[in-house]
Amino acid sequence: MTSSKRGIRIVAGVAATAIAAFAGGGAPAQTAQPDYHPSLGDLMTMAVQPRHIKLGLAGRARNWTYLAYEASELRNAFNRVARTVPSYRNNDMAGMVAANIKEPLDRLDDAIKARNGRRFDAAYAEVTHACNTCHQGLGHPEVVIQVPQAWMFPDQNLGTARAWPATHAVTGR
Ligand code: HEC
Repeated sequence: MTSSKRGIRIVAGVAATAIAAFAGGGAPAQTAQPDYHPSLGDLMTMAVQPRHIKLGLAGRARNWTYLAYEASELRNAFNRVARTVPSYRNNDMAGMVAANIKEPLDRLDDAIKARNGRRFDAAYAEVTHACNTCHQGLGHPEVVIQVPQAWMFPDQNLGTARAWPATHAVTGR
């Protein structure tokens, strides 16, 4: 065999290895990675559930300035969820959000503006109930939300006016 023929064979071998690596998922560095597309369950877990918990905990502490902030965060989270997942099992998500939880969130805002603890507790229980109404309506009655039963988020000061456990019990069931 001449040396030039052997050279061609080596080049062909290298090309075959590169193709195999590409086909096997070894994407070259310059190729864009696929986006992460969160499911509705992901968004509920990431964007909705922690904010519902923080509202409950800060509510016990009557931390009004934070509550005003976080209630707005929760409302906006629902709007973003509906934009990211516009349809769930052929149900219009924006419509489901509006029909189920908009009014309870409005009442929560009113109670926070009025700095009225009793009204806050009632509105928070309504919001919590609305979570479950939507879960039942969309075929997930097993996802049961309740008023937080324990303290969490130890790295965030959500207000310490009331020691845990609080004396007043609120349930959203
Ligand atoms: C507009 C309807 C709707 C509203 C309102 C809603 N949810 Fe959901 N949620 C869903 C649906 C549908 C699922 C199931 C998604 C899936 O897994 O496919 C879900 C799932 C969840 C899950 C399950 C995630 C898991 O892996 O355990 C949690 C937690 C959750 N929601 C929290 C809440 C909380 C808290 C509220 C109220 C503040 C709320 N949701 C309000 C529709 C809603």
